[in-house]
Amino acid sequence: MDTQYIQTKQYEEAARSLVDAAAWCYAESGCGNEQTLRANIAAFEHLYIRPRMLVPMDAPDLSTTVLGTSISLPVMAAPVGFQQLWHPEGERASVQGTGQAQTLYVASSSATTSLEEIAGRVCSPLWFQLYLFEPRSLSAQLVQRAQQAGYQAIVVTVDTPYYGRKERFWRNQYSLPEHIRKANFSDDVDPMVSSTFDWGVFDWLRTLTDLPLIVKGILTAEDTCKAIEHGVAAIVVSNHGGRQLDAALPSIVALPEVVGAARGEVEVYLDGGIRTGTDVFKALASGARAVFIGRSLLWGLAVQGAEGVNQIFAILREELEYAMVLSGCPDVNCITSDLLKECNW
Ligand code: FNR
Repeated sequence: MDTQYIQTKQYEEAARSLVDAAAWCYAESGCGNEQTLRANIAAFEHLYIRPRMLVPMDAPDLSTTVLGTSISLPVMAAPVGFQQLWHPEGERASVQGTGQAQTLYVASSSATTSLEEIAGRVCSPLWFQLYLFEPRSLSAQLVQRAQQAGYQAIVVTVDTPYYGRKERFWRNQYSLPEHIRKANFSDDVDPMVSSTFDWGVFDWLRTLTDLPLIVKGILTAEDTCKAIEHGVAAIVVSNHGGRQLDAALPSIVALPEVVGAARGEVEVYLDGGIRTGTDVFKALASGARAVFIGRSLLWGLAVQGAEGVNQIFAILREELEYAMVLSGCPDVNCITSDLLKECNW
C-alpha cells in the first residue's frame, strides 16, 4: 500500500481539519441522540473471529460478484449526497477513485453532479440510488434517465419517508452553502421525499424499468419477506448510517435475521459502521455478500480526491487480506459464520 495513512481513521482525522465545519457536522451527524450512529460501530466490537490455522494458500482471493458484476473486493461505494461539500470535484472524483479500486459505485439521487455526468466517467460499474419522491413523476424520470445513461441497477432507499432529525447539525444552526445543489433536478424543482408509499411501489417501478431493483434500508425479517414478495433482486441491510430513526437496530445486529429470512433467494449487503477490514470480514461471516462504505469514502475524498477514495479501498483491502490469511480463508466464500463468536462483556 502506497499511502502515508494506514487506517481509515487517520483519513478521518485529516479530513476533519480540511473540511468546513458545517459540512463536517452534516456528514458526521446521526439523528436524535445518535444512539444508532454509535452502536453501528460499537456492535462490531462485540464480534470476535475464531481463526483457523495451517490452511495453506497463496495470496487470498478477495474478488466477488454482486448481481453478476465482478468487483475486486467485497466493498463498494454507498450512495452519499452532496459530495462537492467534501471536494470541489465531488462525485467525479469519488466515482473515479472507486473505479481505480475496481469496485462498484452507487450514485445518489442527491448528488451534486448529474447522473449522466457520473455515468460519463464509466470507469466503475454503476448503480443508481432512488429516493421515493413526490410527485411520482420525479421518481419515474430519474429511473428512466438512469436506465438510459447505462446504470445497471436501481437502489431504492425505503428508510426515508421523512429526512431524519439531524439534531446535532440543527443545534449548531448550520446550513449547507448556497452553491451546493442537487444536480439531477432543475433549480425550480424542490424534490420532497414522501411518506405515502407502500410496498406496491416496487410493482410500479417494475413497469418503468427492466433493471434489477435493490431495496436499501431493511432491518427485519418481516420486511425481507415483503421485499422478496415484491421481486427485489437484492437487499441492503442499513439504517442510513444512523441518520434516519435513532435507536434503530445497528446494521450488523440486524444482518443475521435478514440473511436468515432471505434464505439465499436474494443477495444481502450491509452498510453502517464499516471502518476496518475486520469489520468487512465480520459482515461477510454474518452472511453479507458485500458491504458499502459511506463516511469513510468521504474522508478519503476530502483529503486526496479520487486518489484518497482509492486509498480508502486499498486500506480496507489490505486489512481484509490480512484477516483472511490469519484466519485461514483463501477466498471470500470461506468467510462463514463458524468463524465468528459474539462476546458481550
Ligand atoms: C448518506 N446516506 C445516503 N443514503 C442514500 O440512500 N442516499 C443518499 O443520498 C445518502 N446520503 C448520505 C449523505 C451522507 C453525508 C451520509 C453520511 C450518508 C447513507 C449511506 O448510503 C450509508 O447508508 C451510510 O453512510 C453507511 O454508514 P457509514 O459507512 O457512513 O457508517
